[in-house]
Amino acid sequence: MLTVALPKGRIAKDTLEIFGQIFGDEFKFDDRKLILETPNFTFLLVRNQDVATYVYHQAADIGVVGIDTLEEQGLDVIRLLDLKKGVCKVSIGMKKGEKFDLNKPDLKVASKMVNITKRYFEERAVSVEIIKLYGSIELAPLIGLADMIVDVVETGATMKQNGLVVVEDIMTSSTYLIANKNSYIAKKDEVLDIYEKINKIINP
Ligand code: PRP
Repeated sequence: MLTVALPKGRIAKDTLEIFGQIFGDEFKFDDRKLILETPNFTFLLVRNQDVATYVYHQAADIGVVGIDTLEEQGLDVIRLLDLKKGVCKVSIGMKKGEKFDLNKPDLKVASKMVNITKRYFEERAVSVEIIKLYGSIELAPLIGLADMIVDVVETGATMKQNGLVVVEDIMTSSTYLIANKNSYIAKKDEVLDIYEKINKIINP
């Protein structure tokens, strides 16, 4: 029996479809239920940012989460397989026409991904003030809250429609199948079995 943490939304739906394909069954959460029990798996529906927490604490054996979220959280879990969904970039954005100059003093950077941001600027020995926001990050440069943002870019539409451009890409992300380190040992056969089955579908 494996417990699987899935992030609410499209990724959960896609992942359950893969499980359905593998086992020739339909896996679906009832209405507002957050737990789905089947003979071989218990599925948990959690917030995207909470998937790795469930897996890290072994409340779930495996899970599905974006590598950007995992990098930001820095939780020690096993990255089993790139599911090649939810592909996006974490990029630096600025108002169109403004110069990307890391030598400018007193730079302010707004982001919801403060750890990725901190690491990026530390590696370049640039001291910046990081302003933590929880959403609508693209607004910050427009009203002078920050000089630049570090944010997720998928289609690029949000930046474009708000007069921002990408000046640098920090990382590429996609969703990964992850596993708890102890579960990977204690339930190795089960974990590897589902890994192989999913791998066959993702990388036919
Ligand atoms: C993300 C991100 C951008 C947007 C980028 O936010 O913060 O605002 O998506 O997508 P695009 O390049 O396709 O326009 P999301 O909608 O995930 O909401 P969140 O701020 O609640 O994470």
